Amino acid sequence: MSGNIPQTFIDELLTRVDIVDIIDSRVTLKKAGKDYQACCPFHSEKTPSFTVSQQKQFYYCFGCGATGSALGFLMDFDNMGFVEAVEELAKTAAMVIPYQHGKAASAGSTQSSSVNYYELLAKVANYYEYQLRHHAGKQLAIDYLKQRGLTGEIAKEFELGYAPPGWANLMSAFGKEKNAQGHLIEMGLLVQKDNGQVYDRFRDRIMFPIRDRRGRAIAFGGRVINPENTPKYLNSPETPVFHKGKELYGLHKVLKSLPAKQQVIVVEGYMDVVSLAHAGVDNAVATLGTAVSESHVHTLVKHFDEVIYCFDGDAAGKKAGLRAMETSLSQVNKSVAFRFMFLPQGEDPDSIVKSGGAERFHQMVKESLSLSDFLISELLGKADYRALDGQARLLEMARPYIEKIPNGGYLQLISSELSKYVNMDGEHVMGQLAAKSGATRMSNRPSRQSTADEKPSMVRLAIAMLLEEPSLANQVEQPQRLLELNLAGVKFLVELLVFIQESPNINTGAILEHWRDTPQVRHLHKILRWEHHVPEQGFATEFIGSINLLQRQILEQALNELLQRSKQGKLTSMEKQKMNELIGLCQGKEL
Ligand code: UTP
Ligand code: MN
Repeated sequence: MSGNIPQTFIDELLTRVDIVDIIDSRVTLKKAGKDYQACCPFHSEKTPSFTVSQQKQFYYCFGCGATGSALGFLMDFDNMGFVEAVEELAKTAAMVIPYQHGKAASAGSTQSSSVNYYELLAKVANYYEYQLRHHAGKQLAIDYLKQRGLTGEIAKEFELGYAPPGWANLMSAFGKEKNAQGHLIEMGLLVQKDNGQVYDRFRDRIMFPIRDRRGRAIAFGGRVINPENTPKYLNSPETPVFHKGKELYGLHKVLKSLPAKQQVIVVEGYMDVVSLAHAGVDNAVATLGTAVSESHVHTLVKHFDEVIYCFDGDAAGKKAGLRAMETSLSQVNKSVAFRFMFLPQGEDPDSIVKSGGAERFHQMVKESLSLSDFLISELLGKADYRALDGQARLLEMARPYIEKIPNGGYLQLISSELSKYVNMDGEHVMGQLAAKSGATRMSNRPSRQSTADEKPSMVRLAIAMLLEEPSLANQVEQPQRLLELNLAGVKFLVELLVFIQESPNINTGAILEHWRDTPQVRHLHKILRWEHHVPEQGFATEFIGSINLLQRQILEQALNELLQRSKQGKLTSMEKQKMNELIGLCQGKEL
């Protein structure tokens, strides 16, 4: 999703920047042959398997499979949104983004749109904060906060605000600024009706500015003051700078106050974060009304040693806990501990600290379950391990979870935990689980799977080589002709060939970006991870060979069709002639 930035600009941008510079300024790279290496910033490891290719302009980790372009790296490592990452890269390449008209950037402005967004959001945050202190109706809001046990100090610390009642407060406050209405709509602060009229999204609510990792306001959450109003909580919609599935409320504060790499508690509500902090528990963050996502886990693992998920004790909380566990499994490793705590029925973190202070909450943190204990207790609840068939069932039920765990120490640990309940040692448990899930599990390079069982198609091989060496595309004349082939992936191969031919100097990273947010990107990543065993010197020959084979298949396909019809006696004399030609061609092409 490139929003209002033209794709051609992004293609061009990625041929101008150097991924090595971008990554090296964040993770020190060491030259290794023609590539660069480092210990992977996305998972914990002692020997470097994170590789950056200057020639191909993409990075790849043999350990965890992380891969992407310079743009993808900024998004994952610096936690930037797409637009933000493009802007950062454009800055390093001294390129000006040609935002498409009618959108964020004001016409003729060279300033990037999201700079405007952040400035605007900061002003709006100040506006709401000011209203809490000065608006004529502020007392209702203040009383509400007091009634919840919060003080002016904590409100200040979290920069809480007040959106007064009324439909046009923001326009009266910001209407004089250039393009204010459009920007406020884009930031989800104004809602536009079908007839074009606009009104304030947040009215008569306590406002919580939602900040990104660097502390910039990117969105708002608002809680009703009058309990009769709905919904109780309202968040900004998705915008170019706010993706709620990626953000964690309170993260920048926790990162600022904690020396890196400590414990974090993930709760469900931002009121809980504020209330916990008020009670002295200042290491909590909250999801924004969404389930814990891969992206959340990624962020958490990156910054903390211990991640404690805190859920309500009811069925919904349990379900959310299981989901968080499943999402976390693919990123477990020995250097981060995930724990799960379930609060007593009917309570939330806010009520816990209200009734028993930070102490009561800390006690519950202490009693939280490790990931393996949580997983195993779940499984044990469903299979009686004291019976033999129960043990088999236990292993079967464990399989889908275990399969998500990357190779490494954690896998051994959990296998050995499981082995306590089945008559086997840990190694056997691992063997058992691996046996049926394919031998790849045991390889040292979990992600770059050598898929011996998967026979590579010609198309796949051609795509793989193109991704590594895009200039090969120039060897193919009239790529569109390949479309005549009824083979899986041909359409994409042709798109790729055409794209590369039209984009001189394109590199692997830029290709990945070109297909970002399309269904194909999954296949692209898969193919990049795939080891095709073609040595680099042999690329050109092998590539031409595979294209020739495909072209030959077109002839054969056409010939087969004619042969079929000739059996039915339906050929015209022209077709007969064509058939003879094809027979000649196919034989001639025999190697
Ligand atoms: P809760 O209903 O448990 O709210 O929803 P809470 O956090 O305890 O809030 P208070 O104490 O009543 O103020 C949990 C979370 O689900 C999301 C919010 O993020 C909330 O914190 N939620 C809830 C919504 O997004 N919208 C709603 O209408 C309700
Ligand atoms: Mn609550």
